[in-house]
Amino acid sequence: MAKTIIVSNRLPVRVESNEGGELNFVSSEGGLATGLGSVYKKGENIWVGWTGYYPKSLEEELIIGDYLKKENMRPVALTMKDVKLFYEGFSNKVLWPNFHYFPQYVEYNNEYWEAYKKVNEKFCNELVKYISEDDTIWVHDYQLLLLPELIRERFPKISIGFFNHIPFPSYEMFRLLPWRKELLNGLLGADLVGFHTYDDMRHFLSSVSRLAARSVKEQHVENGERIVLVDSFPMGIDYDKYANSAASPDTIAQEVLFRTSLQGKRVILSIDRLDYSKGIPQRLIAFEAFLKKHPEYLNKVSLVMLVVPSRDNVEQYIQMKNEIDLLVGRINGQYGMMDWTPIHYFYRSLPLTKLSALYRIAEVAWVTPMRDGMNLVCKEFIASKLDKKGVLILSEMAGSAKELSDAILINPNNLNKQVEALHVALTMPVEEQIQRNEIMQTSLKRYNISHWVDVFMNNLTKIKKVQKSLEIRRLGENDQNVLIKEYNNSHQRLIFLDYDGTLTHFFPKPDDAKPDAELLDILKKLTEDPRNHVVIISGRGRDPLEEWMSGLRVSMICEHGLWLRPIDGTWKKLKDVDDDWKEEIHPVLDSYVSRTPGSFIEIKDYSLVWHFRKVELGLGELRSRELTSHLKYMARDRHLQVLEGDMVVEIKNFEVNKGAAAKRWMKKNPADFYFAVGDDWTDEDTFGAMPDSAFTIKVGVQNSKARFNVESVDDVRALLKKLVS
Ligand code: UDP
Ligand code: G6P
Repeated sequence: MAKTIIVSNRLPVRVESNEGGELNFVSSEGGLATGLGSVYKKGENIWVGWTGYYPKSLEEELIIGDYLKKENMRPVALTMKDVKLFYEGFSNKVLWPNFHYFPQYVEYNNEYWEAYKKVNEKFCNELVKYISEDDTIWVHDYQLLLLPELIRERFPKISIGFFNHIPFPSYEMFRLLPWRKELLNGLLGADLVGFHTYDDMRHFLSSVSRLAARSVKEQHVENGERIVLVDSFPMGIDYDKYANSAASPDTIAQEVLFRTSLQGKRVILSIDRLDYSKGIPQRLIAFEAFLKKHPEYLNKVSLVMLVVPSRDNVEQYIQMKNEIDLLVGRINGQYGMMDWTPIHYFYRSLPLTKLSALYRIAEVAWVTPMRDGMNLVCKEFIASKLDKKGVLILSEMAGSAKELSDAILINPNNLNKQVEALHVALTMPVEEQIQRNEIMQTSLKRYNISHWVDVFMNNLTKIKKVQKSLEIRRLGENDQNVLIKEYNNSHQRLIFLDYDGTLTHFFPKPDDAKPDAELLDILKKLTEDPRNHVVIISGRGRDPLEEWMSGLRVSMICEHGLWLRPIDGTWKKLKDVDDDWKEEIHPVLDSYVSRTPGSFIEIKDYSLVWHFRKVELGLGELRSRELTSHLKYMARDRHLQVLEGDMVVEIKNFEVNKGAAAKRWMKKNPADFYFAVGDDWTDEDTFGAMPDSAFTIKVGVQNSKARFNVESVDDVRALLKKLVS
């Protein structure tokens, strides 16, 4: 039976041994573990990952294996060396700082990279023990970026989802990594790649189009014969778990204990793992500045700061711990009183009851990351506020800020604003607190963790269906045999061939689209057969094609169907269209050329084209969108049409299209074998005009009116070669 396998670096359980050598299994309270509980605990499903423990004997290994098996988990054994080089090294000294915009902390160490590859392979080797081709694999987080491709190599048809729990940096940051291309290729082994926010997804797509030489169309990446979907799925929390825990008698009893110790002081709360991405020193400095600026809060407000130990073998984390210790000492030393401690600092992790009691007791939650993929603590605080009272101060740099816009949003680098935010929070009227929290609670209830899991899984199923439908339409061996047979049995063949992107590669040399020797040879052989009537049907103007095709027995349809040239060589205009509009439109295009270095205008007989393929990536696309909407507005009354092509915007008369031209051609030249191949949406008109029995072929893995798809120009050439051989 098909099963689902979750893979992450850490399992949702941690193994420890106590002083007596007894093994303890500590379940994670984390959001991911709870959210995915509904998945991996079902039937044959499993979760594969690392326990965080090095078994000391075979016996321990067996005990761990047995325990995990009962819990639907399977361990991946990491050695101390793996942990040093893969986990502490590449994952946390390369990827973590780069993805969180701390490039100064990155260690560009090739030994780390080698270990990263090796451990990703280790995960893959463990997985293949359990996988079958109809399973679904869901890979999590930055420690396993190469895993999707590794699985794909062994199981080409399997469903693979990948979710990145940390930010994906902008291209400018990501490109600093020497291993950037391999990392992207690793991820593109997945069918669905998910991020918390739209910005992360946008950054990833931008890196893919610039670094991985893949075609990106909106949210889809063409990766060879597969299309990969990229989307954002902001992760939620198990809302009821936190709301119920806040209401439980144990939590309330704990709250009473905390309140007694705090002697009625008001509480500002912060909870984070110890990490330089969390903005902990900035927060402490802001708290110090707050006490200085607002002495009225001395002896009235305490900051309760829970810092969970993390990655304590990594240099930056050790330094951060020392910095925090010093700052807390300094502030408490300067402001503390016999009956008041400004900062209650705990360096440990607490169980849920105590966390919930802290969430209950806090009037303000202060969450200040310099960068955070999502941040769940702020969501848990809101869910724990059963009376809806309390204020959340949240850094704009957390993914969760995109959803929680009713929090007080701050830039953690802005010291004055942090101080002001604390004051605003501590003086916010109760009605306003309730109003803000109500909105945030409604949203968090709806977009909870199980919603996140469902939406991700549904999208994975959806993209698999799209892939399947494209696969059915792929021109396979059998289809080719039928095509060749019908070709051989026919006497009068009409063959429409689009030029750019179909017969010749548009990339990497758009300016050098002249037919090469191989193409000329194919066309020569194809046109020499008297039964063949070959028509080049292109958006290009007449001159280049006439020059390139000279000496060949071909007909031509140019400028998207405006000009027709039968084999006899005389050009005819399909429609009597005017070109007076050019006078008005040309200056508009000119103004875009002036503003966009690298762009240029091509003047065809009855159309104008603005080219941006030489413009800085991104700027060209931006300007083309602007130009298109500008032109669409002008086109409305002038009977013109705006076409957005590959790195071009073209404006031409409305009635002219390849479909109308193809139809007319077919009427005048009836045949017993019809064939058309093209790559962009102007070719859709040609496909639409052809009889149902025609062999219509789209180049590229997208939906189309054509009956079949092939992947590339090379496939088109290979097919044509077979026809003429
Ligand atoms: N947490 C915990 N025990 C603690 C402190 C925190 O289990 O003593 C949990 C907290 O409830 C939250 C998670 O750790 O679910 C931290 O997640 P977040 O997204 O805020 O930050 P991350 O550590 O993933 O960067
Ligand atoms: C973040 C990462 C997780 C990681 C967790 C704890 O939330 O996104 O992948 O597991 O931190 O870090 P650790 O290094 O202890 O696994």
